[in-house]
Amino acid sequence: MTKRVALAFSGGLDTTVCVPLLEEEYGYDEVVGVTVDVGQPSEEFDEAEETAEALDLEHYVVDAKEEFAELCMDSVRANATYQGYPLGTALARPVIAEAILGVAEEHDCDALAHGCTGKGNDQLRFETVWRASDKEVIAPVRELGLTREWEIEYADEKDLPVESGNEGAWSIDTNLWSRSVEGDDLEDPTYVPPEDIYDWTTTPGEVEGEELVDVEFEGGHPVGLNGEAMDPVDLIEELNDLAGAYGVGRTDMMEDRMLGLKVRENYEHPAATVLLTAHEALEQLVFTKSERDFKQQIDDQWAQQGYKGLVDNPLMTSLEGYLDAGQEKVTGTVTVKLQGGQCRPVARDSEYGVYSESAASFNTETVDGIEQADATGVAKYHGFQERLANEVLAGVKESSETDEEDEEGEKLKADGGEVAEE
Ligand code: ARG
Repeated sequence: MTKRVALAFSGGLDTTVCVPLLEEEYGYDEVVGVTVDVGQPSEEFDEAEETAEALDLEHYVVDAKEEFAELCMDSVRANATYQGYPLGTALARPVIAEAILGVAEEHDCDALAHGCTGKGNDQLRFETVWRASDKEVIAPVRELGLTREWEIEYADEKDLPVESGNEGAWSIDTNLWSRSVEGDDLEDPTYVPPEDIYDWTTTPGEVEGEELVDVEFEGGHPVGLNGEAMDPVDLIEELNDLAGAYGVGRTDMMEDRMLGLKVRENYEHPAATVLLTAHEALEQLVFTKSERDFKQQIDDQWAQQGYKGLVDNPLMTSLEGYLDAGQEKVTGTVTVKLQGGQCRPVARDSEYGVYSESAASFNTETVDGIEQADATGVAKYHGFQERLANEVLAGVKESSETDEEDEEGEKLKADGGEVAEE
């Protein structure tokens, strides 16, 4: 029987060397390359197509942009960032893994393979999806302990179609939600990145002017811009252009990977920054303080699971259940101002706003039959326990100081000395 393996294929060095290795080292007869579209730039598909053709590889491209964009919109409901990173790479992986599994099933593959190293997060995000299937999972780069140098030499030996002279280039991962740049000089946390690592965002200091953008939400999901209803893919693409032009959405950070490694990461994510900022501004208006306080825990858990690529599990189902219930009220419009690399909320409006202008205003005396003077009793009680605690503490301290002085006096007397008078 012919043994077939579906390989997550980008046409880059790692996945290209995996093709002959799956045959030579793992005994597969046929390799099927799968490239999944989650909003990468078109050149990346050209590279994948060309390389696949040169390798004579059976190759499929799957469009998963819509599904991915919907997951990104779900992440907005949870204000999801991991240590400040809006999870672009992380959320794309389970979507890509599912799409590859689908192709593998449709085209009779017995196994699934990826070109991830044993140091990163992506191996874990792919495999958690794949290991739920009955297919074998293969990670040649990790299992054979390949290094970049070895791969370049091997590709040269085998005359594989990889671009040479690629050294010094950054390692970049791009999709709809974020563009990540890492590797080479950037691995040094003291190294200040040159402007040319950025592609989506204009240098903030060079941007002039400002722009107001209205973001419309329904049930916590972004659904339109400036009064125009838009589907998730278009909305994200449009905002990446719009806010990127104002230099919005850069992050330069230290990130704690799942395996414990700390790495330096650079990200661009203009649309994510705008949508997350606007969403949180709307929650501030429509939620009670206790809802706001509690939701931070939901949000944090969602982001932790999202970072790990665990988007389909019982906890996520429960978190989504909570979000479904509460986000109904996160419906309305937020106006943000884009200016010099910043995105700030400047207005918000919702019929669910837990806000009474007359109650908060300095100009009204009585609200709902409550008068200013009614607060007197509250003010008397406020901080009661804290005041008492401070008093007790001061009392204990004072009495122990007196005890010490007394002891000192006793000691001097016993020594036959006199207590000196000041
Ligand atoms: N560290 C990020 C994550 O695990 C992104 C890594 C992207 N990869 C890259 N080659 N730039 O989600």
